[in-house]
Amino acid sequence: LDSDREAALTIAVTPSELDTRLAGGWTIPASWYSDPALYQDELDRIFARRWHLAGRLSALSKPGDHLVCQAGHIPVVVVRDGDSGLRGFVNVCRHRGHPVALEPGNAKRLQCRYHGWTYGLDGRLTGAPRCRLEPGFDKSELSLLPVAVDVWRDLVFVNPDPGAEPLLTSAPELDDVLAARGFDERPGFRFHGRWTYTIEANWKAWTENAIECYHCPLVHKNSFNDQYATDHEVYDVVNSGPLMGQFTKYRRRADGAPVAADGPQFRFCLLYPSAMLIEDDFVFFVGSTVPTGPDSCEFVTDTYVSPDLPEAEVESWLAAWNQTLEEDLEVVAAQRNGLRSGAVPYGRLLPTSESAIAHFHRLVVADLEREA
Ligand SMILES: [Fe+2]
Repeated sequence: LDSDREAALTIAVTPSELDTRLAGGWTIPASWYSDPALYQDELDRIFARRWHLAGRLSALSKPGDHLVCQAGHIPVVVVRDGDSGLRGFVNVCRHRGHPVALEPGNAKRLQCRYHGWTYGLDGRLTGAPRCRLEPGFDKSELSLLPVAVDVWRDLVFVNPDPGAEPLLTSAPELDDVLAARGFDERPGFRFHGRWTYTIEANWKAWTENAIECYHCPLVHKNSFNDQYATDHEVYDVVNSGPLMGQFTKYRRRADGAPVAADGPQFRFCLLYPSAMLIEDDFVFFVGSTVPTGPDSCEFVTDTYVSPDLPEAEVESWLAAWNQTLEEDLEVVAAQRNGLRSGAVPYGRLLPTSESAIAHFHRLVVADLEREA
């Protein structure tokens, strides 16, 4: 136990000790859920290099349409440039850091509202008030910083690394796993609203909660567990590359209709590290986890609902979903003190019921061990 305690006080766990731990059904060290240095490594080596959900392609149909999002900790704006299709930029003015776009919308150019620096849809700085008074001020050196943009079906993704390999090269599972299980991004659903949750937990604790349903019978007794079959025998879990999926059927349907005999009616996908797609016949969530500190994060999700569902059913179904998320917030927040204490330096997983967490930890470790 003494050596375990020592290991918890530092992030300098040797790779071989980590391997032994993970292979033996243990978690990553508890200190990794609050350590500021490890958190900075995660931002640099995971969030700055992976694909993140930006939004719906249908929101970017006309030249000048743009959306704003977070690629992990990095604010991003995606625009439809008339000639060149979609472009993504770090949503940070080259002057002093204010966003160049605050809201989704349509504009001929992006103007920072702090001092009025103006950028074309190609990212070039076209104007900065009073800049002619400054010798040596070279607008061509001050374009918005580019990020990679890719599209899968009606979903737009961004990667802060402009040289990132294409989305489907890093995540062929989007087609292989999701398409094979009838995933559909619900083009006919109407936008219902954006839900934002402030979470008192490290992003990994939140993510781990989302990718296992071992907690469902207890935590979500009157919400998720009441809506969907969560028994181990019927709950389909797929861990493949950056995709961690969960698929199951209704216990009952919101409209009281009989449950269809085949095919999963609930589909969940984490595209590591931040993107979460959740759908059933009634709702579709396009969500992202945003790290906000060593032991805090946000979950932001755009919510879409079926046009076929009566308004009262929509509200009760969404209420159950909101309850599920609130229940998750509560348990991960309650975990935080325990993880931070270091008193239990490694957790013991149940690999059969929590295979996705083991898979997730291996992805985190591999990214952290990769050359900077
Ligand atoms: Fe949950």
